[in-house]
Amino acid sequence: MASARDYYSPTQLRTDQWSALREVTGSLGRSAPNEIMADDLAKAEQLFEELALIEPYWAFPGMVAFDHMRRQLEHSSFEDLAFTVHRVTRALATGAYRRRSIPLERDSIDQEEHDDEALLTTEARALAKPYFEVLVVDSVSEQQERWLKDNVAHMLRPEDPFVYEAVVVPSLEDALIAVMFNHNIQAIIIRPGLLLKSELNNEVLRSYLNRAGTQEEIDAIPPENLGPELCRMLARVRPELDVYLVTHRSVEDIANLDLGICRRVFYNQEDFLELHLNVIRGVEARNNTPFFTALVDYSKQPTGVFHAMPISRGKSITRSHWIQDMGAFYGPNIFLAETSATSGGLDSLLAPHGPIKEAQELASRAFGSKKTFFATNGTSTCNKIVVQALVRPGDVVLVDRDCHKSHHYGMVLAGAEVVYLDSYPLNEYSMYGAVPLRSIKQQLLALKAAGKLDRVRMLLLTNCTFDGIVYNVERVMEECLAIKPDLIFLWDEAWFAFARFSPTYRQRTAMRTANNLRERFDSDAHQRAYDAQQEELKDASVDLLLDTRLLASPDARVRVYATQSTHKTLTSLRQGSMIHVHDQDFKGEVEQSFHEAYMTHTSTSPNYQIIASLDVGRRQVELEGFEFVQRQLEAAMTMRRAISSNPLLKKYFKVLSTADMIPKAHRQSGVTSYFDSDVGWTDMWESWENDEFVLDATRVTLSVGGTGWDGDTFKTDILMDRYGIQINKTSRNTVLFMTNIGTTRSSVAYMIEVLVEIAKELDNLLDDASKMERLSFERRVENLMEKYPPLPDFSRFHDAFRPDDITPEGDIRTAYYLSYDDTNCDYFELDGTLQDMLDAGREVVSASFIIPYPPGFPILVPGQVISAEILAFMRALDVSEIHGYRADLGLRVFTEDALGKLA
Ligand SMILES: Cc1ncc(COP(=O)(O)O)c(C=O)c1O
Repeated sequence: MASARDYYSPTQLRTDQWSALREVTGSLGRSAPNEIMADDLAKAEQLFEELALIEPYWAFPGMVAFDHMRRQLEHSSFEDLAFTVHRVTRALATGAYRRRSIPLERDSIDQEEHDDEALLTTEARALAKPYFEVLVVDSVSEQQERWLKDNVAHMLRPEDPFVYEAVVVPSLEDALIAVMFNHNIQAIIIRPGLLLKSELNNEVLRSYLNRAGTQEEIDAIPPENLGPELCRMLARVRPELDVYLVTHRSVEDIANLDLGICRRVFYNQEDFLELHLNVIRGVEARNNTPFFTALVDYSKQPTGVFHAMPISRGKSITRSHWIQDMGAFYGPNIFLAETSATSGGLDSLLAPHGPIKEAQELASRAFGSKKTFFATNGTSTCNKIVVQALVRPGDVVLVDRDCHKSHHYGMVLAGAEVVYLDSYPLNEYSMYGAVPLRSIKQQLLALKAAGKLDRVRMLLLTNCTFDGIVYNVERVMEECLAIKPDLIFLWDEAWFAFARFSPTYRQRTAMRTANNLRERFDSDAHQRAYDAQQEELKDASVDLLLDTRLLASPDARVRVYATQSTHKTLTSLRQGSMIHVHDQDFKGEVEQSFHEAYMTHTSTSPNYQIIASLDVGRRQVELEGFEFVQRQLEAAMTMRRAISSNPLLKKYFKVLSTADMIPKAHRQSGVTSYFDSDVGWTDMWESWENDEFVLDATRVTLSVGGTGWDGDTFKTDILMDRYGIQINKTSRNTVLFMTNIGTTRSSVAYMIEVLVEIAKELDNLLDDASKMERLSFERRVENLMEKYPPLPDFSRFHDAFRPDDITPEGDIRTAYYLSYDDTNCDYFELDGTLQDMLDAGREVVSASFIIPYPPGFPILVPGQVISAEILAFMRALDVSEIHGYRADLGLRVFTEDALGKLA
């Protein structure tokens, strides 16, 4: 029996088991009766036994067909069995079962089987009615199940936009397993007969239950509450689905319960038509793409264009003698959909009232925000909008210093007093981690002690970081609110839009956490816990406050913003981004300034194709985000396992584990890696629920120092030039492989093949190397792996830019504009003048942002004192790209006179 340690995902387990069954039944089918191998028989029986624990959660092939195959085995009808299993596995692999019914009898003809499903044209696929499955939760006999399914089947009408099949499971536990496993499920009908416990004891699948609640929590559900509780638990794990509750309980009873994502309550068990109409309407609501549809409709209308945009309807191209190739390359539709019109069914992004407004509202529902705004020029712009909308000149903002450059520029524009927070360094790999909560609390408490808390406005953090470090969002927000109850949070989720669609990841997103905090702060239990803690913490020392997990006052305001580059992790054209808002004080305090900030940064000619792609990307995640993110995780995990268990690859490469990237003090669960070749898989859930930091498993950081090449050379000269593999982040001795929802198993396989080839070449090279060549290789490796310049902390703002020397906030805007006057600046060479100045004890202050790639964020900002550590780091950097640094002149610094004038 497969164990949870052997399989990262039950979907993979299912795929593997069906293909093993195809192989063994194929072999049985080809054997003459006297050649049947006992081993094959035993293996087939075992596979059937294992699949019997999995198949009840899927509509295809369905338990009737499955039991039929089992009987074929029992009756030694091996040829028939081989045929049926072949057809099932093929239909599963191609997804053909979604498009038509698959005849499984041997003499049945499946005409279309010969048309290779994979080769279906995009148009043919677009015309097929989408397929999904409806989960019915009820404990019924086989006969009743047939009756239920027949009833469901009879409801389907030719005019329905979708087709669906029913899957029936008997219990609450089975329902939770089903929605975590079967990604085809879009709607759940809970009937009054459901039970609590699952009878199928599959360890891999049971491990899913902890996503919905602890086993004690599940076991304690009273029988009369099973239906409502299931509604609530489903909301925790799959909030995008639709649930319908059929119940006998009185309307008054039900009205007092939290029914999670229940769309409607039914009292008549047999009103199948009403249920059917609701199911279809529910899925239609997610499938609806108001702006994309409006744009498609617009493109079909005959119009005469008498305003700007000659490219609109392709007119300037089709009449051209010279740019016909552009028309040929893009095809006509994109130009038919290019327009600057804001009427005729379209809308204006700057003042949305039609389909763009609607599309934003749907995105808000999908991402769990109170309000969502689209942006057509990336998260760089979203960040500036949020900062400008909320931060007033002189407000104190706490920012992780390795944040994206858009935040630094945002701080300049807003005139913020900035407190830069240091992330923990990973010197060995030349990268930063994230900011420990303790140091955030320390800064807030220091500002409080200095009487400046009322000026503190915002905490701005990157979640997850480029390298995949993920904060414990709930803990950070709650503990900070315990010190400053109206603190505003901006979470830069440029890399994290997909997280909403995995139950494990969702709990660390800004929007889910904002919702959770709102609910929790409202509860009596929280009020009691808070009062008790306040009593305990009376006259507490700073150390005690730092060591205690602080609870926020129930009166704290939940004010949370998240910016996401939809285009980085989900389906959207480049620059498609969203701002999600859950701010209790938005309406009263922010709406107007947000509008102004949005106007400041948004083009008056936003790109409609980008907006349409955001709308379609939202549709996709609401209907198949769960499936795609699951698949992405599987691809990343396959990569981890393949590299970690290949002896040849292990010689030169190492996948950095959680333990490599997160110091022990921040990993309370003790989890050290997601995969270990000795131990197998670790369930991510526990660490994601509790640890201060976790690692986004979809990002695989590979240490390549063992090859003797630095990260940049490995990326450009080896992966890109030789093998056409693109990656976009490196450090001194690592490269980052990012998977995304489009990553396929075959692209992972290709990547592994390439690594194996590189490792073999290195083996050959070293085999034939002279002693000197070998020594030179070892030196290069040693240099990359053991001699690393320590990453410097943010030093401090020069006194000229600080209100006092009690707390560290600095006025970056004054420093930034001071450098506009060239007479205020001078240039010093790194290993000449500058070093001498520091040696002589002079304070030298940067006049610019200095951004080396990698690591890709400013190691100096305007107004920052250049420390000996920063200079040493810059001198040790062997990267060629340092933005803001002029190799011919040196580092731009302020003159003493300029600083003196400010003092
Ligand atoms: C953390 C972070 N925030 C914001 C951005 C900017 O996003 P965009 O490229 O959508 O403007 C990036 C880009 O890489 C980023 O890494």
